[in-house]
Amino acid sequence: MPLQPTPKQVSLIKGLVFVLALVPFVRLFWLTWSGQLVEPLQFITRSTGDWALYFLCIGLAVTPLRRLAHWSWLARFRRMLGLFGFFYAALHFTTFLWFDHFFDLQEMWKDVLKRPFITIGFIAFVLLIPLALTSTNAMMKRLGGKRWQWLHRLVYLIAPLGVLHYWWMKAGKNDLGQPLLFAGIVAVLLLVRVYFAWNKHAKSTATAR
Ligand code: HEM
Repeated sequence: MPLQPTPKQVSLIKGLVFVLALVPFVRLFWLTWSGQLVEPLQFITRSTGDWALYFLCIGLAVTPLRRLAHWSWLARFRRMLGLFGFFYAALHFTTFLWFDHFFDLQEMWKDVLKRPFITIGFIAFVLLIPLALTSTNAMMKRLGGKRWQWLHRLVYLIAPLGVLHYWWMKAGKNDLGQPLLFAGIVAVLLLVRVYFAWNKHAKSTATAR
């Protein structure tokens, strides 16, 4: 039987997920503030990058879980999870711009163009911006459902770019275990969608006959 919480329970779970999603940020803030980090720049860059990727994957997992487990109420979490992905990616980028380049945009740009793994991360981040900006109901209405949906399918490109960025960074260190795991997770989450689309197409051609 599908799990079916009441609207009030869904709001409560949503509140809880919101607080939990802020825990890595608060922890990072506390560790930095209290001077407990040996290499703060590296730690902050890495943990914000990790959390951006986690939230991209969690956001991508909502639809498969919703459809396979018949948990339609999960749809209410998608926007929040996506925005947390953007939040951590923005912190990740800001750390790079601030501590690596002291807000010198020209220097940052040179670095983005010089190091391919940063070029890929930058592209992923830039593509996330229109998704964050159009995440409101008002923007959805303004764009129209179909166009909005097409735009938000950019996440199918952003997640693999995030993994490629991670992969490329770790390839230089010959340490591909974690990137391989995330490549597998993203591949499964995208392949499930291909299966859903193929299934829908097969059903519609069967009924048209
Ligand atoms: C959607 C966008 C992005 C995602 C998902 C992402 C994710 C990640 C991940 C998972 C790591 C490795 C963390 C670890 O070692 O545990 C990383 C590292 C890094 N990222 Fe990103 N990233 C993104 C965008 C960017 C952007 C826009 C920049 C800068 C322009 C950037 C610069 C870096 C740098 C410099 C590192 C290496 C840190 C180090 O060597 O310690 N990333 N990123």
